[in-house]
Amino acid sequence: MGNAWAVILAAGLGTRMRSELAKVLHPVAGRPMIQKVQSILREAGFHQQVVVVGYQADEVARVATELPGITVRIARQPEQRGTADAVMQGLAALQEVNEGQLLVVNGDAPLLRPETVRRMVETHLSSEALCTLLTARVDDPTGYGRILRDEAGRCVAVVEEPDATPEQRAIDEINAGLYLFDLGALRWALPQVGAENRQHEYYLTDVVAHLAARGTVATFPVDDPAEIHGINDRIQLAQAEKILRRRILEHWMAKGVTVVDPDTTFVDDEVQLGRDTVLLPMTFLEGPTTVGRGCRIGPNTRIVASRLGDHVEVQMAVLLEAEVGDGCRIGPFAYLRPGTRLAERVKVGDFVEIKNSRIGTGSKVPHLSYVGDATVGAGVNLGAGTITCNYDGRRKYPTTIGDGAFIGSHTSLVAPVTVGDGAFVAAGSVITKNVPPDALGIARGRQRNVERWAARRRAEDGEKGSR
Ligand code: UD1
Ligand code: CA
Repeated sequence: MGNAWAVILAAGLGTRMRSELAKVLHPVAGRPMIQKVQSILREAGFHQQVVVVGYQADEVARVATELPGITVRIARQPEQRGTADAVMQGLAALQEVNEGQLLVVNGDAPLLRPETVRRMVETHLSSEALCTLLTARVDDPTGYGRILRDEAGRCVAVVEEPDATPEQRAIDEINAGLYLFDLGALRWALPQVGAENRQHEYYLTDVVAHLAARGTVATFPVDDPAEIHGINDRIQLAQAEKILRRRILEHWMAKGVTVVDPDTTFVDDEVQLGRDTVLLPMTFLEGPTTVGRGCRIGPNTRIVASRLGDHVEVQMAVLLEAEVGDGCRIGPFAYLRPGTRLAERVKVGDFVEIKNSRIGTGSKVPHLSYVGDATVGAGVNLGAGTITCNYDGRRKYPTTIGDGAFIGSHTSLVAPVTVGDGAFVAAGSVITKNVPPDALGIARGRQRNVERWAARRRAEDGEKGSR
């Protein structure tokens, strides 16, 4: 569609959601509904979009201008007087556009496929129609506008459910909420729409009757009725979520990712996965997360906005904004917080928390450690129970550990502190001063053995017992 504009209707409150949050801001598959609709249109070739906002206008406008690759104009609809009024406000933002076609879509239709939009556009352009509507035949048409046809089968009007007669309600062909209009014809028809209906709203669907009286209104049937699923309440939201998530998983399965149990695997829209990666049950991949090839993720793992290289294994772990190099092994029971950067082949074992730290190639943090604000070199071993004491209640301080250093078990590293390359820290130390390269740092009470002490005590107890 070259440079055609699309108008997205997103001003409504979404009363049936019963929410403080505008309907189009509710997330589906990990991103706000409005952005999902915008990205569908972008993929279908509509890089210029007018978003009509009203309820929570500023917030919706902010979210709607975040996606790359789209020119967005925001149109405000001061009162939600219906979808025709919303389009009217949208057109006010396109005053300099005089001819061509205009796509209009409901902001609550995140299940449309870009391919469907593209095919409908092609059909419309190769016809003389003043308007083409996306339609579907559904088992349960409740809540949708019904398509009315004359004896010749031509679409002559759309009737909204509250205004439909019982015979009309029995029609199972419905309006999906995606329209292509000849812009001139739409500008002519819109002002003729009134609000004399059950809901006292200006219905966009009323332009259909006006356009059908003047020319042709075409319909484009969708193949898969799941696509037209509009979201009006939280039940429909959950249904949409399920459909979208399934589609995302099927996309990745087709690209060579194994999903052991699609019912318990949750992958957001923005996630990227490499070939031969295996996702085990109860895996959650969220936000802009990238996982390389040949990885094994899960079970019971949540990874948010993180980047993983190839051949990484993660089990029973939570990763937030972390970067993980090739061949790392993480978990079970590991927690990588924002700013964690693991080089290649790092091992992070059980009950380990790492925050804002870099760990060098081949280093190991196998058990029971907290590593915060640290820079750890390559080939380092942090023994069980190594703790960086990075916070004194006021500020955070850095810890630096050089290449090849060995930190004995149960060591506290009181930051700021540096352990040099190749140095050795004795188990149980509380390190408050720098340890030079290749030195031994030992900071603990010296052991004293009292010969025969235990035997004497037993003997005393024995005397008491015989008394
Ligand atoms: C609408 C259609 C119906 C169709 C269905 C498909 C109308 C009158 N009816 O019904 O034929 O079958 O979608 O899902 O269009 N909006 C505004 N401003 C307003 C009112 C609504 O921007 O004043 C926006 C809403 O935020 C929403 C979209 O328009 O994103 C559709 O509105 P909604 O109230 O959900 O329409 P439906 O009753 O579902
Ligand atoms: Ca709707």
